[in-house]
Amino acid sequence: MSAVDIKELNLLLERVYREGGYDFRDYRHGTLIRRLEKRLHATRTRTYRDYIQFLDTHPEEYEKIAECLTIKVSGFFRNSYAFQQVARLVFPDLVSEKRNRQDQSLRVWSAACARGEEPYSIAILFAEFLGHQRQGFNISIYATDISRQTLKEARAGIYSPKDTEGLSDMILENYFNHTNGHYEVMADIKETLHFSYFDLTSMARPPFTNLDLIFCCNVLIYLQKQLQERVLDKLYHSLHSQGYLILGESETPPNSLHAKLGCLDRKARIYKKVGVHL
Ligand SMILES: C[S@@+](CC[C@H](N)C(=O)[O-])C[C@H]1O[C@@H](n2cnc3c(N)ncnc32)[C@H](O)[C@@H]1O
Repeated sequence: MSAVDIKELNLLLERVYREGGYDFRDYRHGTLIRRLEKRLHATRTRTYRDYIQFLDTHPEEYEKIAECLTIKVSGFFRNSYAFQQVARLVFPDLVSEKRNRQDQSLRVWSAACARGEEPYSIAILFAEFLGHQRQGFNISIYATDISRQTLKEARAGIYSPKDTEGLSDMILENYFNHTNGHYEVMADIKETLHFSYFDLTSMARPPFTNLDLIFCCNVLIYLQKQLQERVLDKLYHSLHSQGYLILGESETPPNSLHAKLGCLDRKARIYKKVGVHL
């Protein structure tokens, strides 16, 4: 890509930020360029400069850019090893620490929740782990994303047989209602989830604090290093003093993270805020 194109791309990203409120300025260029091709094609514009002019008269296009630039691939218990390790390494200690402190709250944040598969998987994992003792806890799973469309779908909690094909019959039977060829997450699981819009890259402080567990999986990979650091700093400050951070198997977190958090599992990228050493 020529220097002129990069300059125009930066102008476009600045415009999308200033007028559309979506900040992709520090996302990795490779993915952005590939994805923007689709919008250029759909709007029959040839260059970024033409596309900026198109935006002048088509403000509805900002939402479409945001939808196009975000990659929403997800799945129930995606990164199955990470979920397995959370159940093995995190839940037993977390639940026993809570019992010792006589604290019945379990506060979790799924920070880029896409269509909800990740936060629903977390809720199901808790239900499986706690069994009847689930009633003794007040579980809140906050699930956020910048895609309003996917948040709408996530709130509905309705999935196709293809979306749920990796789930066992037992999980489907215990946590989903099967109606009209679709699987809908059961009400007692849904009611532990709270979906809302939150842009991880924004300067705003996250609306959640004192969290026991944060999942931030398969989103940092799209950000440049400097922005990754800023996002991780934000997550760090939202954690309880003994909270856990799960980044999943695809991320390569910056080295600075190791100075702040102990690593419980390198492959699943599970970290704890204090008292744990490599
Ligand atoms: C590939 S999906 C990952 C979903 C899930 N965490 C998983 O691991 O399966 C990436 C998600 O990050 C969201 N996303 C991208 N940039 C974001 C931002 N700045 N703030 C919040 N969510 C963002 C996208 O909309 C998309 O739903």
